[in-house]
Amino acid sequence: MSLLEVEGITKNFGGLAAVSHVDLRVDEGEVVGLIGPNGAGKTTLFNLLSGALKPSSGAIRFRDENITGLKPHQICHKGLARTFQSVKVFGGMTASQNVLAGAIFGDRGQMSPKQAGKEAARLLEFVGLSAVAAAPARDLTLANQKRLEVARALATKPNLLLIDELMAGLNPTEVAQAMDLVAAIRKQGTTVLIIEHVMKAIMSICDRILVLHHGEKIAEGTPQEIATSRTVVEVYLGE
Ligand SMILES: Nc1ncnc2c1ncn2[C@@H]1O[C@H](COP(=O)(O)OP(=O)(O)OP(=O)(O)O)[C@@H](O)[C@H]1O
Ligand SMILES: [Mg+2]
Repeated sequence: MSLLEVEGITKNFGGLAAVSHVDLRVDEGEVVGLIGPNGAGKTTLFNLLSGALKPSSGAIRFRDENITGLKPHQICHKGLARTFQSVKVFGGMTASQNVLAGAIFGDRGQMSPKQAGKEAARLLEFVGLSAVAAAPARDLTLANQKRLEVARALATKPNLLLIDELMAGLNPTEVAQAMDLVAAIRKQGTTVLIIEHVMKAIMSICDRILVLHHGEKIAEGTPQEIATSRTVVEVYLGE
């Protein structure tokens, strides 16, 4: 079943079409990759899907409902959560409190504080941050702040999680750990749409990959198809 169906989504900033007539479908249970050169429009597309930006035109359907133009908090409550390329943790709050905030927001304050605390602890363990649960989020390494955002987003119990560059700046061991985390997220039942520049990782974790260039979708296919696509090699991957 299609979880997300995007038709002709476009975002103009003045004369610049940052995202131009992009069609996109994500099925339940998939891990779909979004790649493309710097400035291709990847993060802008996430901002459109999550309601941070309103599209200039086009439509977004999520779980068979038109969510085009809804506010970020409404979209999150419908089951679509995200992380941020430039991390946006609550720096003065502990790692645990960051995840608690997600859990409490996610179920509209229905959970008891005790339940929410348990859930936060479970998710911190899931992303490998139990050891820094009590540390202020701003004191975490950038890689750990990215993981914290994953935990906070998962705390809202999303059907679809948008991850914007989890692996930038990580060493090979950390990249492997991040790949394991994405696999674990899918396994526990959350569909994933992920932006990533680390090609080795994206090629091995994704079922399908979409390529953006100057705001347009220039290719879509299996990792194998993308890796051997002439257009993609020319504009993005190089020889
Ligand atoms: N709020 C904005 N106002 C004006 N232009 C913007 C805005 N946000 C993004 N852009 C422009 O839109 C284009 C796409 O940017 P975007 O951040 O979506 O690219 P990206 O594919 O995520 O790149 P990167 O890989 O570097 O993160 C860029 O030219 C950028 O400068
Ligand atoms: Mg980006």
